[in-house]
Amino acid sequence: MAITAEIRVGETKLELPVVVGTEAEVGVDIGALRDKTGAITLDPGYGNTGACESAITFLDGERGILRYRGYPIEQLAGPASFLEVAWLLLKGELPNAAELAALVAAEKANRALPAHVERLLAALPQQTHPMAMLSSAVVTLSAAYGEGDGAIAGLPANQLRLLAQLPTLAACIYRRSQGLDFVPPDANRGYAANFLHMMFAGTAKATDDAAIATAMDLLFILHADHEQNCSTSTVRLVGSSQADYFASIASGVCALWGPLHGGANQAVIEMLDEVVRHGGNVQWAVGQAKEKGSHFRLMGFGHRVYKNFDPRAKIIKVQADLVLGKLGQDDAQLDLAKGLEQAALADDYFVQRKLYPNVDFYSGIIYRAMGFPQEMFTVLFAIGRLPGWTAHWNEHNAGKARIGRPRQIYTGKNARDFVALADR
Ligand code: SDX
Repeated sequence: MAITAEIRVGETKLELPVVVGTEAEVGVDIGALRDKTGAITLDPGYGNTGACESAITFLDGERGILRYRGYPIEQLAGPASFLEVAWLLLKGELPNAAELAALVAAEKANRALPAHVERLLAALPQQTHPMAMLSSAVVTLSAAYGEGDGAIAGLPANQLRLLAQLPTLAACIYRRSQGLDFVPPDANRGYAANFLHMMFAGTAKATDDAAIATAMDLLFILHADHEQNCSTSTVRLVGSSQADYFASIASGVCALWGPLHGGANQAVIEMLDEVVRHGGNVQWAVGQAKEKGSHFRLMGFGHRVYKNFDPRAKIIKVQADLVLGKLGQDDAQLDLAKGLEQAALADDYFVQRKLYPNVDFYSGIIYRAMGFPQEMFTVLFAIGRLPGWTAHWNEHNAGKARIGRPRQIYTGKNARDFVALADR
């Protein structure tokens, strides 16, 4: 029997339909609420509000579950490649051998950036934050490709192009910030290996170590999607106005930049450096994080959905040990992070609020060991998140997409008459 919900607003009682998802999540469909009762719901931060039905990613925050199109992240992170996962998110199924071969070939063939992008980056001040460079460059790609023409390797042309070019763009942004010449893409290298090559070729950070490229590819997979997070919701909302694909993705880049979201991986390193400046005192850090008046937060901890371990954080923590070991890097920062995690997880403040390490807590430590400057960390997050943003953009536009337009409760001044300047 279909379950329903009943709401009473003053004297008006309304029965509302309920949507039950494939994982038994229950959503009250309030589509008729305002017409029937004059009332709307109010949920700042949308912690209780579903914006859509989606078939892409499933999260269970209480049980620490993350699945892309039904596949547990633990089963994808490792055996699958990032391009396989991108196809899975975009098409709903893992690619067969022919589909994957065509995707890999098309990605390699489309890595070069349009000529105007290099001129655009050169025109920006060298110290421009990489995320500002990234969003600026992405939004201008429509100048070269327009609305997109047909498909390449079974994907909408512009979506394949951006998947192929985002690493090239990221590497050019890094090289621009360092005053280095750009390194052209190398079609003889896989996705992550080519990215690392374009980033570091000719510098002391250059590496041809396949294990590092594999770790990079895995990190892209872990960041590939996360249902209705801030930046993905932004991409869906901007896309709902039928804005251009590149413009919609550029809006996601801007939302991701915030330190409460994707910018947290950079903020974690800055936080760890602050703890080091306080003698590596873990208890000081935990105390500061609990102090309401202090600016200090345990960045990389806490999550709107996960009230258990973020499954990605567990995988990244293992990778951190592997990569730092491989690179023979000083893992003092990793030890400090582990000490902070241990202290926080034993502290009532964090336990009561169910604050656990999230995807950003350890990722920055790996990126730093690989040689990335911390201003580039969120750019790496964006490369990983691109297939997720795109899959959600497609899903929104495939349906009977209405423009997203939330309501509000007005709490300002009531009607009043204009006062002439002389009388103010
Ligand atoms: C990502 O949504 C996604 O899926 C995002 C993401 C993805 O893949 O797209 O998973 C990626 O953005 C991960 C989150 C990265 N951000 C951080 O690590 C920044 C630090 N974390 C927080 O600022 C916070 O936990 C958020 C932003 C992640 C979540 O914020 P909420 O859900 O709005 O929770 P809140 O700020 O209301 O916190 C609830 C309580 C508060 O204390 P009280 O008012 O109840 O006393 O917990 C406290 C907060 O002060 N708290 C923290 C804390 N996080 C929450 N206290 C200290 N340190 C922290 N990190």
